[in-house]
Amino acid sequence: MNDAIQPRPVSPPQAAGLLQLSVIVPTFNERDNVTTLFRRLEAALAGTAFEVIFVDDNSPDGTWDVVRALAREDGRVRCIRRIGRRGLSGACIEGILASSAPCAAVIDADLQHDETQLSKMLALLQGGEFDLVVGSRYIEGGSADSFNRQRAGASALATEVAKRVLRVKIADPMSGFFMIRRDRFEQLAPQLSTQGFKILLDIVATARGNLRIKEIPYTFGSRLHGESKLDSMVALDFLGLVLAKLTHDVVSLRFLLFAMVGSIGLIVHFVALYAALEAFDWPFPEAQACGALSAMTSNFLLNNFLTYRDQRLKGLAILRGLLLFYLVCSVGLLANVGVAFSVYDQEPIWWLAGAAGALMGVVWNYAMSGLFVWRKR
Ligand code: GDD
Ligand code: MN
Repeated sequence: MNDAIQPRPVSPPQAAGLLQLSVIVPTFNERDNVTTLFRRLEAALAGTAFEVIFVDDNSPDGTWDVVRALAREDGRVRCIRRIGRRGLSGACIEGILASSAPCAAVIDADLQHDETQLSKMLALLQGGEFDLVVGSRYIEGGSADSFNRQRAGASALATEVAKRVLRVKIADPMSGFFMIRRDRFEQLAPQLSTQGFKILLDIVATARGNLRIKEIPYTFGSRLHGESKLDSMVALDFLGLVLAKLTHDVVSLRFLLFAMVGSIGLIVHFVALYAALEAFDWPFPEAQACGALSAMTSNFLLNNFLTYRDQRLKGLAILRGLLLFYLVCSVGLLANVGVAFSVYDQEPIWWLAGAAGALMGVVWNYAMSGLFVWRKR
């Protein structure tokens, strides 16, 4: 048998007691749900050799602490506590990569997904006919009745965009409930985005038709305790993912947002400059400095709120970040002027030189901000 063409079977003989399934549970403030979920997994997967990996982003409610207690009692449970990072997709990727069974499932902690489907999903993968089994709300027999109208509309719109723009063929690419063969996942993992929350869509879009997918219906239930973490900003993440997949990862949403914030900064600069000159009668150099400072400050705040929302600086770190941002931008301005000058020297076309300088400035500021201001901890 040729290994490259024919994937190896994923069903080790159960008698050998080999691990069959890894269940990955991303958590953020799910303290009251994790124990119930684990008990239900135990019941649903009786007879299956499985492990459960909770990936917690340092939940303020101490979810990780509850998971640790579970793990001390039962060796099948593990806890990954991530500090200084947020994001559903990244948590799922990290969890799957930290697990070991030939099949990995992702399931929410809040019991909205139907854990009783897991055995069926596993059997489908073990049959060797499929690489990915998706719990689907939008096929015959499935439903998402617990959604309010706004959420249902948003979900339907995102699904439509995914199908048309990314040519994703499944009915519910926005589902957060699925099971995948480890070998196929490991192949795709380097190209997946850790930002955002649409990991299934990312997997399917990245595979570009090369996954054998089966959808099975399930009913999206109501949350047991706590509340949803998905806010209106997830629309932005979704857009970013579509853009990245469309351009083969050439255009990143982060850079686009950074550049957009920079353009807003230009407006802020002019408004502040005008106000200082006209309303306060400041001399030009002081007024210009005031414009620049206002623009840099508002750029910093907007970037912290939008562009780097997953790594948002809080408390004192904001002040430190702001000072660093001033520094980065000041050097960026020198680079901007320098490049514009040398272009103008070659070819005295003012707008070309200006644009070259501005491009240099934004690329510099973006690169250096990522390195020094919002650096990954
Ligand atoms: N580690 C980590 N980090 N976990 C997170 C984060 C995060 O930043 N944000 C959310 N989670 C966890 C939650 O604790 C929960 O277990 C799960 O991810 C889903 O989050 P919810 O906040 O409950 O999302 P939802 O119910 O609105 O939407 C879910 O279901 C949809 C339909 O299947 C998500 O799974 C969506 O991706 C999915 O489209
Ligand atoms: Mn939920």
